[in-house]
Amino acid sequence: MSKVSFFSGEAVPLEMHKVRIVQKLNLVPIDRRLAALNEAGNNTFLLKNCDIFLDMLTDSGVNAMSDRQLAAMMESDDSYAGSATFTKLENKISELFGKAYFLPVHQGRAAENIISKVFVKPGSIVPMNYHFTTTKAHIVLNGGSVEEIIIDEGLAVTSDCQFKGDMDTAKLEATIQRNGADKIAFVRIETGTNLIGGQPHSLDNLRQVRKLCDKYGLMLVFDASLLADNLHFIKTREAACKDMSIREITLQIAQQCDIIYFSARKLGCARGGGICTNSKETFLKMRELVTLYEGFLTYGGMSIREIEAITVGLEETMDEDMVSQGPQFIEYMVNELDRQGVPVITPAGGLGCHLDAMRFLPHVPQSQYPAGALASAVYLVSSVRGMERGSVSEQRDDNGNEVYSNMELLRMALPRRVFTLSQIKYAVDRIVWLYRNRDLVGGLRFVEEPKMLRFFFGKLATTSDWQSKLVARFKADLGSDL
Ligand code: F0G
Repeated sequence: MSKVSFFSGEAVPLEMHKVRIVQKLNLVPIDRRLAALNEAGNNTFLLKNCDIFLDMLTDSGVNAMSDRQLAAMMESDDSYAGSATFTKLENKISELFGKAYFLPVHQGRAAENIISKVFVKPGSIVPMNYHFTTTKAHIVLNGGSVEEIIIDEGLAVTSDCQFKGDMDTAKLEATIQRNGADKIAFVRIETGTNLIGGQPHSLDNLRQVRKLCDKYGLMLVFDASLLADNLHFIKTREAACKDMSIREITLQIAQQCDIIYFSARKLGCARGGGICTNSKETFLKMRELVTLYEGFLTYGGMSIREIEAITVGLEETMDEDMVSQGPQFIEYMVNELDRQGVPVITPAGGLGCHLDAMRFLPHVPQSQYPAGALASAVYLVSSVRGMERGSVSEQRDDNGNEVYSNMELLRMALPRRVFTLSQIKYAVDRIVWLYRNRDLVGGLRFVEEPKMLRFFFGKLATTSDWQSKLVARFKADLGSDL
């Protein structure tokens, strides 16, 4: 993709695939969007697809699949036990990651459940570059706690640091020494660090972390869910890797890690997940929980058809054209918004374009959830659905106090190979309009607040009638209710 330059000089992310199956989209008028927001309690998770034009909630389970994946699904070997389809996936995992033992699970968080149940004890500490919501919830549920050891640059919203997902190894060593290695359940690295804007880590950093794990006898657990994007960044940004193939980089990454787990809703563009390791002892500890929580060892809660699709999807992830599509579309969107003054996370990462709600809505205090307010405002003016990744996505401490997020982000995810460039331009256009009218946007407050993972089904109300004012300005400016 990146190799094609345009005579015009314009930076255009050129698709290296063609679209042969399409799905009709609806764009409902703004009054319907306002009603839909009310029904959904201003929580974009609770919107219905029929009210959504471009769904940028997530890349999870909604990446476009290839003709080869769909063909493979037709020839799956269905059986409860001993399916040849499962053996294909097991072999592919061994080929790509060099790991002998593979356990299937129904999605990424199921892997987190099993790993946490086996290795996290009350009082355990899990140092990691940054947490993901479900990861932290499972560790805490098992009595452990998370220590985030991201480099300082990782939390700088605008930066030119190329690997904001790197772990601060000096801080990691200090944490190990302060707590004692026996308190550390394992060290976790999340590739394509989700909650700080899909930011990558380098292979070199992973090697440094490995060295420390060896020094203190610790296990390194790698969340590979967002590996595709991170592979692109290692290949294009890490000088020492520029002549390596994606396959070689994958293997080098895997060699640093004791356990690799992934959500195949992201990695492999299908739906499912898995855990792999080279340690028989580790494998045996986790194996019984797979049969207890997921299903038999040759399907782990996944449909056999999906397992076929994952195998092909993992192989396709070794194609540079494939892994670069997401990051290049994201870069286009980030650069367009940045050029027009809209505050976004820079440099562009993977997974999606992240708007910085603290700078977008500086007049909305964190207690009124600026990222949540921005998510509802963007939906209202565009029918594009993003995901709040700020304080609503945190949960209260044991005393019921708010835990404010380090960053208040609105994530506009770009599922891989799904949107066209004109659709990205539409989203950019509406976000820029909103930015010019940002003074109208107010805050939110909870009216229904679940204790666990409240962002999934909590409901919020506006703190004033700001949404109807925004609707009136929209109709006046655009001369239309679309
Ligand atoms: N780890 C990371 C880094 C993730 O991004 C996710 C999911 C998981 C684990 C859990 O995997 O959904 O298959 O159970 N992220 C999705 C998202 C939900 O929208 O970012 P899962």
